[in-house]
Amino acid sequence: MEILHTAAALQAYTENCRRAGLRLALVPTMGALHEGHLQLVRAAAQACDVVIVSIFVNPTQFNNPDDFRLYPRLPEADANMLAPAGCTVLFLPSVEEMYPKPSVMKFDFGALERVMEGTHRPGHFNGVATVVGKLFHLSRPHQAYFGQKDWQQVAIVQQMVADLAFDLELVSFPTVREADGLAMSSRNRRLPAEARTVAPRLYAALQLAAEQLRQGASAAAAQQAASAYIASEPAFTLEYFEIADAQTLQPVSGWHPGQPVVVCLAAHLGGVRLIDNIVLQP
Ligand code: PAF
Repeated sequence: MEILHTAAALQAYTENCRRAGLRLALVPTMGALHEGHLQLVRAAAQACDVVIVSIFVNPTQFNNPDDFRLYPRLPEADANMLAPAGCTVLFLPSVEEMYPKPSVMKFDFGALERVMEGTHRPGHFNGVATVVGKLFHLSRPHQAYFGQKDWQQVAIVQQMVADLAFDLELVSFPTVREADGLAMSSRNRRLPAEARTVAPRLYAALQLAAEQLRQGASAAAAQQAASAYIASEPAFTLEYFEIADAQTLQPVSGWHPGQPVVVCLAAHLGGVRLIDNIVLQP
């Protein structure tokens, strides 16, 4: 596995690969890797000849300086996990390398970002789109891999790929969970032990809402039941609990078979902000 630190080195590498007729995959990450990331890398290695994994804790997508400062950074442990999973190139740029000058361009994803993470983390998707767009340009992948735990992020990146005609296929994979249901996340490492024991309640709340919707409850009723369940554990502060059309991300009144619906939440627990979602397919 090669480790590259500069944009120029990555561009040169991927240009050579393209010239040699190789298929390239990109797995963008912020590191502190877990099984969810590794599944993406393994899938990419099955589908493509070259797998580029980027690890970059992107400052422009953090609206909370403490969250940026405390985000786990484990580049050595990450590198050790990547080669066995099939990573060919690890791209580890510095902030100065990715942002030689502060970027001023602004993205507006319309209704897609006026909900959930977009509302609660102002500027977040602008930062995500900026860095993902740069990574797409530097690596020119045939495929790019994302996890569905960030459901809204996948929708936003899909929109950017369509709007800016990036010539690549976006591949997304379902959330990987711990045995007790907690969605795997780099931020889980920061959960204090006591908080970790109650954290799976978030997934249980999503399942509760999903079950109610399947049984014909309105979105408002399902949302209320799930929010009350979360509130019964005082360690949680619920930021949002939304039931939305899985594609447009706009709120729905209930689940109608034939319309995929996503149930999403964000909550604070033990000083850590967690998100999760569940999708009801037709
Ligand atoms: O999902 C993430 O880890 C980040 O938002 C991403 C896509 C790597 C962009 O910084």
